[in-house]
Amino acid sequence: MRDLLGLAERKKSRLILALDFVSGDPAVFADRLLAALEPLVVGVKVGLPLALRMGFRGVCELVERYGSGYYFLADFKLADIPDVVREELALLSEAGFDGSIVHLFPMGLEEALSGVRGHDVFGLVAMSHAGSRLLDEHFEDLLRYASRLGIRGVVAPATKPGLVARARAFLPEDYLILSPGVGAQGAEPGSALRHGATFEIVGRSITASEDYYGAAERVVESQRRVIGE
Ligand code: XMP
Repeated sequence: MRDLLGLAERKKSRLILALDFVSGDPAVFADRLLAALEPLVVGVKVGLPLALRMGFRGVCELVERYGSGYYFLADFKLADIPDVVREELALLSEAGFDGSIVHLFPMGLEEALSGVRGHDVFGLVAMSHAGSRLLDEHFEDLLRYASRLGIRGVVAPATKPGLVARARAFLPEDYLILSPGVGAQGAEPGSALRHGATFEIVGRSITASEDYYGAAERVVESQRRVIGE
């Protein structure tokens, strides 16, 4: 399993790239991005749209090919009964993913997660879009639950920086906070880090840019100004 913080330290970056949307052949598109962005990007978050376009075998090949340079995070937002979540996590780990994002609202996950070894789990505690009222209303509950589970960290939205700051203040120190919502959804690069996030997740503002290297570089430069590197 790859060391997320070690890679971040080496690259002096807190950027996780979200791969959802592709143009043209998905394998060629993903290959071109990952071959170029390794010096800047710490982790690659594979979303369901990419997996559905490439097929799971294609995704596994990507993980195998680029596994030495990136931390791979499966974002299938798992939300099933605990026995099924346990099996999903085991299969994603077997496929070479270092971590997965799970929804916490189904609860009852203690036993399913206690057996997970060598694979990080990140729990969703709020969402970045404007209409996520139901989840956001239970933010404190979900944070409390996340902190009891002994997982690697949470996903909290950069578009709602107050929630990121509350998550940082509440969670155990060793919990990581991954923040999506930077770029296409409006949050500025570096802003979530300033509020206590450990990593920022950025998708379209890089993947849809003609100059994706330049776009990623600008994100990382903003981040470096915040983390002082
Ligand atoms: P963009 O293209 O908007 O991509 O930069 C954002 C990525 O992050 C995911 N996303 C979230 N995941 N909680 C999550 O667990 C959230 O609140 C959230 N908001 C965005 C989205 O799936 C995409 O991959």
